[in-house]
Amino acid sequence: MTLEQLKNTIAAIEDYPKPGITFRDITPLLQNAEAFSACIDFFVERYIQQGITQVAAVEARGFIFGAAIAKALGCGLTLLRKPGKLPGNVITQRYQLEYGEDQLQMRSDSLKASDNVLIVDDLLATGGTVEAAAKLIKQTQARIHEAAFLVTLDGLPGEQKLQQQGLACYTLCR
Ligand code: PRP
Ligand code: ADE
Repeated sequence: MTLEQLKNTIAAIEDYPKPGITFRDITPLLQNAEAFSACIDFFVERYIQQGITQVAAVEARGFIFGAAIAKALGCGLTLLRKPGKLPGNVITQRYQLEYGEDQLQMRSDSLKASDNVLIVDDLLATGGTVEAAAKLIKQTQARIHEAAFLVTLDGLPGEQKLQQQGLACYTLCR
């Protein structure tokens, strides 16, 4: 499957969840076994030789891709969760979304100084979510390799914002 064919499995839903938003729906991609498998293979091909020790995946849609990539790379999976879901000591970061506001939390003991972390999420829009993810990881001594997305929305400044902060971004589809 080519990247163009993969992109064509993602649906565009107008005015969801609010008027004026075009929602990029990944559920048809996930229901297509060949597309989901190809998507994970594209990521694994890029990261297999990069010494990634932890995939840090963002709840909820980032978990789907992050878990499969971590399994294929043979590395750990760090969960960046919405508030009130993680036991133990957590660190918290608030952020703005394209259609609201939210918070991410990570367990304080998740990452070590020796970790080389790949951030994974399904989609980059304003960049608020992954900016918050990077801020959480930067509170540890771990190194961030880059942030990987299935989709980047070109009409929004997310990618530029993250790159200006020194965070490399990689995307399969635009
Ligand atoms: C969506 C998406 C990304 C984020 C991207 O998550 O899965 O995490 O928005 O937007 P941004 O670049 O503007 O921050 P959402 O919070 O809607 O939650 P979900 O994964 O639980 O559906
Ligand atoms: N998360 C933030 N913006 C989104 C969009 N336009 N489509 C799907 N998920 C999103």
